[in-house]
Amino acid sequence: MEIKGFGVEAWLNKYEKSAQFDISQSTIKSLTLGELLSFASQDPQKMLANYLETKLNYGWIEGSPEFKELVAQGYRHVPVANILQTNGATGANFLALFSLLNPGDEIIALYPSYQQLYDLPKSLGVKVKNWDIQEALNWQPDIKQLKHLVTNKTKMICLNNAQNPTGSLLSKPLLEQVVLLAREVGAYVLADEVYQPVDQIEDFPNIADLYERGISVNSLSKTYSVPGLRIGWVATQSPELADVFRKYRDYTMISGGVINDTLACLVLKNRQKILKRNQQLVQRNHEILAKWVATQAKVEIIMPEQVSTACIKLNIQTTDEIFCQQLLKATGVLLVPGSRFDMPGHARIGYCTDSVTLKNGLQRLGKFLSTFD
Ligand SMILES: Cc1ncc(COP(=O)(O)O)c(C=O)c1O
Repeated sequence: MEIKGFGVEAWLNKYEKSAQFDISQSTIKSLTLGELLSFASQDPQKMLANYLETKLNYGWIEGSPEFKELVAQGYRHVPVANILQTNGATGANFLALFSLLNPGDEIIALYPSYQQLYDLPKSLGVKVKNWDIQEALNWQPDIKQLKHLVTNKTKMICLNNAQNPTGSLLSKPLLEQVVLLAREVGAYVLADEVYQPVDQIEDFPNIADLYERGISVNSLSKTYSVPGLRIGWVATQSPELADVFRKYRDYTMISGGVINDTLACLVLKNRQKILKRNQQLVQRNHEILAKWVATQAKVEIIMPEQVSTACIKLNIQTTDEIFCQQLLKATGVLLVPGSRFDMPGHARIGYCTDSVTLKNGLQRLGKFLSTFD
């Protein structure tokens, strides 16, 4: 089976550990274990002591009942039984795509977005048609294009909402139109929702609630600041679909790990506190980023929603890949070149790191940019 290299992951694997001012990542500043434990009502020392007694068996295979219950609270129409824990959102996307797609199938994918959503299906022998996001439309896709793309052969529509790297969001009315088109031909709609905005937790239009064939993928990696737990999930209204995922899941993972499951529950039980911390951080850094861009002659931006990824346009003669390599070498500042997302001439800024790193990184980036034509 042939598969294209994963652009953004290959870039980060190569450079992230050597960056001095890493403003490339897409997580809202990760929590330490100590910070996470401090959100709980129990004494952290007691909680750590409990871990010494915890048996490291496989634990709950689909995720503990508590985990599934806590995740299901985030949906209106998804029964607890239809929540399956996965190894991050990457694991959830893989599970859904691997379970449902066959060679010769045809799907439509929001493009560019998270590469896994179109290059993994291609490697499975699936024909992928692109539904383009457009800079001229503030990084939105045009529903008219989707109407042309959908046919009786469309098996699935893959979305990334909010979208990586632009941080743009598909609105509920737009998603409802997508659902109408999908329903006409019986297509699934898979939405990778890891960038659920910090200010839209209660009223976020997740696809599993909007559509009986919707598949919501999410994780604790971005909005909840704990990518190191590697815990995600897949959610659907349909018990039949959940059973299909169960079957394939037995071949791809067993469980998420006992310790990780308990920590994931801790995150979800304290989500209001964590989200409050993250709302403040996102708002503060959003302002820092917007103010900085306003001072830059060679940079344009369509500001992201309240999510942890943003995309700038670089008005320079050098390619984004060479620019980002030179930037890192000369200043220690790390971005992700837009070409890694098939968006040449752009770069991803992961602006939701700590504010000091962001300010330092932007200041050095601005100075470096001023040396370019
Ligand atoms: C859209 C999208 N989905 C999934 C992931 C990976 O998520 P996880 O860490 O939960 O596997 C990323 C990480 O960059 C992402 O941008």
